[in-house]
Amino acid sequence: MHPTVHSKTPHLHKGTASAVEDAQAAALTQLDHFVARSRPIDLDGIAWRQVAQEPLSPEVIRTLTCMQSIENHTVVFPRTIFSTRALTDPSIGPFLTCWLYEEGFHARALAQFLAAAGQAPPPRSKGQLTVKDRVEAIATSIFSALWRDFPALHMAWGALHEMTTLTAYRRLAALSNHPVLTDLLSRVLRDEARHFAFYYWQARERLQRPTTAKLIRFLIDRFWKPVGIGIQSTAEIRFVAGYLFSGAEGHAATRRVDAAIQRLPGFTGASPLETWISREVKCWSNTEPTTSIS
Ligand SMILES: [Fe+2]
Ligand SMILES: [Fe+2]
Repeated sequence: MHPTVHSKTPHLHKGTASAVEDAQAAALTQLDHFVARSRPIDLDGIAWRQVAQEPLSPEVIRTLTCMQSIENHTVVFPRTIFSTRALTDPSIGPFLTCWLYEEGFHARALAQFLAAAGQAPPPRSKGQLTVKDRVEAIATSIFSALWRDFPALHMAWGALHEMTTLTAYRRLAALSNHPVLTDLLSRVLRDEARHFAFYYWQARERLQRPTTAKLIRFLIDRFWKPVGIGIQSTAEIRFVAGYLFSGAEGHAATRRVDAAIQRLPGFTGASPLETWISREVKCWSNTEPTTSIS
């Protein structure tokens, strides 16, 4: 998917104070564009009463339950994913507040759908941090304090997560063939596309220096995993990835995620999602089916 927002930020290589001021003013204008469009997902007219009248496969229920818990976890434990540098950055911080708010409504909307389908309500969070949360919180605070380009990593990482999420919801809508779920997910998708556009725009701005881009490319190639690892078990994420990205259409969708990221400075040829799925899920080999409910 192409990002929907194009940068108007002047390049900084002139090194003049006025160029920096122009760049900051342009960034704030872009930010206003995103923040002004932030609102809870519009659930008006969703046919909740029809949810249970259409068949839903166990795979769809399981995938949706997993995705709901990931959306919910984002909201419950924001401190593990926000760095102080990003929150206090005037061109990022206000967006992150809106982003978190919108993700919270996604979690509520998916929970409402599952309830309408007769599924037990998702368990409430016990307010406990996972081991991954603790490690990420410590690593984030240390790297954020020591490395002024940390928000560039945060934005590139976020762009990849949002593009993966966006594509996963699109695949789920197609595979479910459920009219109400398709309607709901089309509304979620509008938000996810905007989230991706913001992260992508910010990542592109912050990866202009080749040394920064090279380091962040290395970190993503080495450490990136799909969102949800550590919140759900790796086995569950493997199941969801196998269900959504198996087959020729799933493989093509995977490549579209990577193709979007390849357009970032320094990311030519990057294939983080395809690499992870090839290694962890193996759903494109004939020998290791991963999509059956066990
Ligand atoms: Fe979301
Ligand atoms: Fe999102």
